Amino acid sequence: MTTHWILGPGAIGRLLAHSLAPLAEVAVIGRRPLPGQQILTTPEGETRAQHLPSFTAERLAAGAAAPPAFVHITTKAMVAEASLASVASVLPSSTPLVLWQNGFYAQPRISQTWHGPVLCATTTQGAYVTGDDSVVHAGRGPTLVGDLDNQHTALATTLAALLSNAGFTATAVGDIRSRLWQKLAVNAAINPLVALHGVRNGALRDDAYSGRVIAVVGEVATILEKEGIAPPNGGEGKAAWLALVWQVVENTANNKASMLQDMEAKRLTERGAILGPLIESAERHGLGCEVLKGLDQELALLEAEF
Ligand SMILES: NC(=O)c1ccc[n+]([C@@H]2O[C@H](COP(=O)([O-])OP(=O)(O)OC[C@H]3O[C@@H](n4cnc5c(N)ncnc54)[C@H](OP(=O)(O)O)[C@@H]3O)[C@@H](O)[C@H]2O)c1
Repeated sequence: MTTHWILGPGAIGRLLAHSLAPLAEVAVIGRRPLPGQQILTTPEGETRAQHLPSFTAERLAAGAAAPPAFVHITTKAMVAEASLASVASVLPSSTPLVLWQNGFYAQPRISQTWHGPVLCATTTQGAYVTGDDSVVHAGRGPTLVGDLDNQHTALATTLAALLSNAGFTATAVGDIRSRLWQKLAVNAAINPLVALHGVRNGALRDDAYSGRVIAVVGEVATILEKEGIAPPNGGEGKAAWLALVWQVVENTANNKASMLQDMEAKRLTERGAILGPLIESAERHGLGCEVLKGLDQELALLEAEF
């Protein structure tokens, strides 16, 4: 059995651990120990209890576990590098990593600095934690896996097969960079606005907000063209991005976006991983991005009060 370490035992981390545990040796690694007995509630409402060995980085440093075949990093984007640093001393530098973050912040930074293969996973699985021993798998959706330089396709294929056996619908892809930017584009159009206005995704269709959505998508489409990211569904420019955003708003109308949940819980949001790469790209290409910068500043002001 291969060993998988899951660094960041939150919603996605524990969903992954529950899913892999019947097929592989799994250890969840956090900043604090979690109860070994863990409960998963499925999208159908069934509950399943499972033992998931839990470690802190300190215990791993004391030689508490055998080196893993994969390390999955399932923290929020802004702490992915710090979490990796906390276990790096006990990891062979050739260990494959799998980054599960939204946005495009942790992925290029860790891909540039880690010696071993770095796979990126983008998932539409939905999960949330309800306590230190319980996670809810809220909804199923596809997962795509690949590496930014397309040099580890066999490894991505192996991982996608394992994930699929574990109940994720996973596919290895050769264009994960574009897939990450595509998801980031949609997240940038939806998440900051719903977080700032305290509304569910569907409210963005209202006259009060739809103009702001269109303004964000206008800037995002121009930036992505410069980044060489093709518009979705074979469409053209801004219209194709806008059509995708409205489709996602429609499909997720009743959802509370993670950024809104973070804001309500007074936790730092992933704005740096979602708006940050767009703003950085706009500046690099000499493009204006006043709307994106405005959203980032509004979020930053609210976060400063936490
Ligand atoms: N949840 C979803 O449905 C979903 C779907 C798609 C993508 N994603 C992406 O997946 C990533 C994780 O999201 P999530 O919802 O699972 O977040 P989450 O529930 O907040 O989980 C993050 C976990 O990381 C832990 N952590 C923080 N700093 C750490 C460190 N230095 N070392 C080890 N662990 C650390 C946190 O521990 P504490 O409890 O101690 O803070 C928490 O258990 C995000 O980038 C998100 O955008 C999530």
